[in-house]
Amino acid sequence: MGDGARSVLVTGATGLVGFEVADRLRGRPGVAVTATSRRPGTAPPDAVPWTIGGEPRPARLDRHWDVIVHTAADVRWTMTPEQAHRANVATVAALRPLISADTHLVHVSTAYAGGLRGDVSSDDPADYRNTYEWSKAGAERLVRELPGPVTVVRPPLIVGRRADGRAARFAGMYTILRGIAAGSVPVLAAEPDALVDVVPVDDLGDLLVETALRPPDGGTAPVVLAGGDRAPSVRAAVEAMLDGLNAWRAERGIERLVAPRVVPPESWHRFFLPFAREHLTARQNRMIDLLRVFEPYFSLTGPLVPTRRVTGVEDCVRASAAYWADRNPRLASLRPRPWRGAD
Ligand SMILES: NC(=O)c1ccc[n+]([C@@H]2O[C@H](COP(=O)([O-])OP(=O)(O)OC[C@H]3O[C@@H](n4cnc5c(N)ncnc54)[C@H](OP(=O)(O)O)[C@@H]3O)[C@@H](O)[C@H]2O)c1
Repeated sequence: MGDGARSVLVTGATGLVGFEVADRLRGRPGVAVTATSRRPGTAPPDAVPWTIGGEPRPARLDRHWDVIVHTAADVRWTMTPEQAHRANVATVAALRPLISADTHLVHVSTAYAGGLRGDVSSDDPADYRNTYEWSKAGAERLVRELPGPVTVVRPPLIVGRRADGRAARFAGMYTILRGIAAGSVPVLAAEPDALVDVVPVDDLGDLLVETALRPPDGGTAPVVLAGGDRAPSVRAAVEAMLDGLNAWRAERGIERLVAPRVVPPESWHRFFLPFAREHLTARQNRMIDLLRVFEPYFSLTGPLVPTRRVTGVEDCVRASAAYWADRNPRLASLRPRPWRGAD
């Protein structure tokens, strides 16, 4: 560095988003990128190991940064409040010494950081769907107190990239895909016409790189990357996912899997689930508990309001499912018995 190049620090470089951002920035003329990672073993070889908030920052990072793209976070929806705060708020606080008055912080949040009220001002977990949202709202409040300019970018559910479905890590939608492949998802509790907003990781990577490389515009409104009222319905998204998996299976002579029925949460909990529970295996019961965290997101009636619109995501969901299958061939090839209980 020291050659007049723009210095950019990317946190979370082993993650779905951080990997894509660091990959895009490397080799860009006029940019000197430094990636950090908690797990050096799986990170790019040049990544600086650092458990943010959990250990002192490495001396190598003590320098001036033009831009920090902060993607490191714990995206689980099932954390305790303490875990969520440590993972997603204390980590922002730990970046503070790296930020000068002219460091542009590009902070990755979530489209749902506003929780049930639709804004991030509340510190009451009851105002959010889960501790993850609550902690991401806390992080958004904290970044506003930092000295430099800040751009908050809010994506909804993220899947692999458009061209080939590549994803450095599988969370979110992939939990459902894994469950369907294993035959552990009898029913999806969702409003059939609810929209599920999904963005390809490369669309987000492009946006983050573009934001990082241009001067901050001084605005404080979050950038929402989403499909909004053009997002696919839950049913269409699940079908696209199954299409991708089934196309992969067909190439290998493995029979198709049938998409789980979409049942409105109220009917599922009142009529089907009490009956189904006792007939399910422990693994299937666990999967049902796991999927419960998706219900609020699969019952949203009001679409997100994008500031940057994403369209045509169904093909990307197909490609993402096929990419996942390529990386998990044993699971993707299973022949689970069809479900009968909830018919
Ligand atoms: N995935 C989604 O669908 C989604 C949707 C909306 C918003 N977001 C937001 O997008 C951002 C990126 O998420 P993602 O999907 O890329 O998550 P991810 O795949 O789970 O990656 C998270 C990254 O953060 C690192 N990390 C976590 N805690 C850390 C710590 N204390 N110190 C250092 N590194 C730490 C992880 O390191 P390890 O490799 O060691 O785990 C990993 O590199 C997050 O801010 C998330 O809230 C994600």
